[in-house]
Amino acid sequence: MSKIQVAIIGAGPSGLLLSQLLRLQGIESIVLERQTREYVEGRIRAGLLEWSTVDLLNEARVGARMMREGLAHDGLELAFDGRTHRIDLKKLTGHRMMVYGQTEVQKDLGDAHTASGAQIIWEAGNVAIHDITSHRPRVTYTRGAINHEIDCDFIAGCDGFHGISRQSIPKEYVTLHERTYPFGWIGIMANVPPVAGELIYVNHPRGFALCSMRSKSRSRYYLQCSLDDDIANWPDDRFWDELRGRLPNEHAGALITGPSIEKSIAPLRSFVAEPMRFGQLFLVGDAAHILPPTGAKGLNLAAADVRLLSEAILEYYRGGSETLLNDYSKQALARVWKATRFSWWFTALMHKFSDETFAHRIQLAELEYIAGSAAAAESFAENYVGLNFAQRIPRPQGLRLKSSI
Ligand code: FAD
Ligand code: DHB
Repeated sequence: MSKIQVAIIGAGPSGLLLSQLLRLQGIESIVLERQTREYVEGRIRAGLLEWSTVDLLNEARVGARMMREGLAHDGLELAFDGRTHRIDLKKLTGHRMMVYGQTEVQKDLGDAHTASGAQIIWEAGNVAIHDITSHRPRVTYTRGAINHEIDCDFIAGCDGFHGISRQSIPKEYVTLHERTYPFGWIGIMANVPPVAGELIYVNHPRGFALCSMRSKSRSRYYLQCSLDDDIANWPDDRFWDELRGRLPNEHAGALITGPSIEKSIAPLRSFVAEPMRFGQLFLVGDAAHILPPTGAKGLNLAAADVRLLSEAILEYYRGGSETLLNDYSKQALARVWKATRFSWWFTALMHKFSDETFAHRIQLAELEYIAGSAAAAESFAENYVGLNFAQRIPRPQGLRLKSSI
């Protein structure tokens, strides 16, 4: 049996960012990941970072390439009723957003781990956690045919929605809140210049569309599709025609198409598990909560959890206090629920739920309101860029990692 301070389950962005921040503070961890590194780095997911996430990646010393290659955006466009309205995020909130793919964040974190010789066990099988409510929890896993056991102080469950961490908590100690949506998103990636310089969120009678990007020569587009849709029903030509049909004329004419390099369908779901702590197990990121992607909050919430937990673990090892550890779930959930509300609201505003004309007219009225009211635009913008840490619920003074937020 080996002994480590923190065992981290899952080498997605949450797990690797947590281990990197802990390592920089001299705290030892081991990361157990069931997939290969190539698989984890190849998954195409989020693309938009709040500036608080940008700051955290820089504090973790994995932000250099992001600062060179990422695209900082000052605003976005809302398209509805055949027209567009620009939301000036920078002017309204003082904050920008960063376009930088999750795949790149994952690679930067992976490279930092390789460079430091940090312990990541790829292809760890049968990961299981034991004695969570004792002060000596254990994690077991297999690698090849060999069984391993790790003794630790804390376990960070960073293993996503389908992971084992949340499922290891007895059902009577966790409340699950869930909302599923009657549609999904089909997304494609293509090596073509984006249709516009900023993201465009489209409300259209045929359904939602989103124009995003990964660089000035790589576009990421999404269309609302039905839940039982199949990729096979969406050859590239159909996707481009449908996207063109949902864009306002000014953009439809400028759309450059090309062969897709990736295409996938994702269901939309809101899910929150509370509390986010059970004994010495702390849930982080998608293991505890997922959101419909409309507000681009998933990865950013995961990073915010990591910041809180790393601060709490640091306080424990520096000063022996468990105040921040005891506070973790409450602090994290306060932010999670605000982001969950925003994602739910923005999803409801932009998607087609039925053929009912009343519902569509109400959406248009609300979009007109955002376009015409400084107060409504500011409220939208401050949620979109991320409710910052100044708004976290009051708590006792504790040790904080250096932060520019
Ligand atoms: P994950 O990235 O899920 O990482 C969890 C890791 O744990 C994985 O590597 C997994 O292999 C590993 N694991 C699971 N079970 C075990 C086990 N038993 N043992 C060991 N390891 C295990 N967010 C946005 O903001 N915008 C988007 O456009 C967007 N698109 C998305 C599209 C898809 C298809 C998905 C699934 C998510 C998307 N998200 C998006 C959400 C965003 O990608 C997540 O919020 C983010 O990945 C959360 O990071 P995480 O590290 O908490 O979880
Ligand atoms: C992306 C995804 C989102 O859900 C979003 O709101 C903005 C951007 C993206 O993948 O680029």
